Amino acid sequence: MKNLVYIETYGCQMNVNDSEVVLSILKKHGWEHCCELEDATLILANTCSIRDNAEQRIWGRIEQFYLQKKKRPGVLVGILGCMAERLKENLLDSGKVDIVAGPDSYRRLPELIAAASDGHPGIDTVLSREETYADITPVRLDESGVSAFISIMRGCNKVCSYCVVPYTRGVERSREPGTIVREACRLFESGVKEVTLLGQNVDSYLWKSEGESVNFAALLERVAQVSPLLRVRFSTSYPSDISDELLEVMARYDNICKHIHLPVQSGSDRMLEKMRRKYDRSWYLERVKAIREKVPGCGLTTDVIAGFCSETEEDHRDTLSLMEEVGYDSAFMFQYSERPGTLAARNYPDDVPPEVKTRRLNEIIDLQMRKSRERYAAQIGSEQTVLIEGPAKKGEGKVCGRSSNYMMCVFASDKKAGTYVRVRVVDATPATLICEEIQ
Ligand code: SAH
Ligand code: F3S
Repeated sequence: MKNLVYIETYGCQMNVNDSEVVLSILKKHGWEHCCELEDATLILANTCSIRDNAEQRIWGRIEQFYLQKKKRPGVLVGILGCMAERLKENLLDSGKVDIVAGPDSYRRLPELIAAASDGHPGIDTVLSREETYADITPVRLDESGVSAFISIMRGCNKVCSYCVVPYTRGVERSREPGTIVREACRLFESGVKEVTLLGQNVDSYLWKSEGESVNFAALLERVAQVSPLLRVRFSTSYPSDISDELLEVMARYDNICKHIHLPVQSGSDRMLEKMRRKYDRSWYLERVKAIREKVPGCGLTTDVIAGFCSETEEDHRDTLSLMEEVGYDSAFMFQYSERPGTLAARNYPDDVPPEVKTRRLNEIIDLQMRKSRERYAAQIGSEQTVLIEGPAKKGEGKVCGRSSNYMMCVFASDKKAGTYVRVRVVDATPATLICEEIQ
């Protein structure tokens, strides 16, 4: 029987990149990637624990994987990533899973698989202070090959009180800059036109060794210098750490895309403190002002949590008024979901009733919808440079791609994916710019 591995990825972009690292490790050990669950001899899910509903969905998938095991004896099921780290043996106890590997254990996967084939469930959830998979060249999963993710760091040292990430992905560590720049070069040589540098908090990227110290602004500049034809994006920024130096580097290079994802979480100082975010409302608004001044036209997106512990109507109104004031292009908006083991779960009751959370979230979504409509409509008449990603989902013969400020653009063109084109915006929806190619 051929060694065929199928992998599903949940949650953040970093998980997408981790799955590519996993495939690269397995490939070296004789595994081939397959796209159909039914063909696989090894089924992997790279999981997310950020909210309870993310985990519930994956439990549902584990049931489906189990059906494959029953139908085809010998098939192995492995759970990777944050849920593996959080639930450890509990996953094996379900009797439906053979392999459990946390985010820092992927090098040991071949060993764990071998053990599991011999009937011994394989588990490793030890977190590391050093692992960055720096030397591993990820196998790219995105067939279009236009854009790729590069992890520049792992873990998080922020310990926001609601967040499970510091527990599931461990302490922050930065990857050696030379390996990042080399990976960007190799990708560009293989035809990739856009790379996104990933970290939970890219602004705290710091590499130090014998006299050399590279911060995020310096790293970004080095990646931007790979080629003016390689677009560079990054995510995620942290409001108290994003520096003027970084904004200046962004402004200096045309190929650094003008978009910042700057999660605010709440507009209320009382909530921000309880969340242990290391900034307050006025600091955040000052950073937004600096972004708008130093990087004109910069796209701004955010994350918001509705109904965190003890949130009052006044706190909620502070979030709405902040969103009104900033005017984000788009946002990820969530109801607070208590995560076992976090500071918030240990110290504060999850006391906002579910119906209140839902109503507040809906108000947040409605406001954002209105703002998105305004922000996108404001682009009508402007010219943008778009990197074509591929055919548009809707519209015969149309292609799609993003503008530098991260807005999705759709237009008729006979140019190929991976081509830069100049377009004029002629119409807009709250999530798409309708454009015409400038000949
Ligand atoms: N710095 C990270 C944040 C990861 S979590 C990054 O790179 O994006 C992504 C978002 O999920 C957070 O910004 C927050 O808005 C949301 N989130 C985290 N924990 C949550 C929880 N317990 N309940 C609801 N939303 C949560
Ligand atoms: Fe989570 Fe806060 Fe880090 S949201 S990932 S602990 S910056």
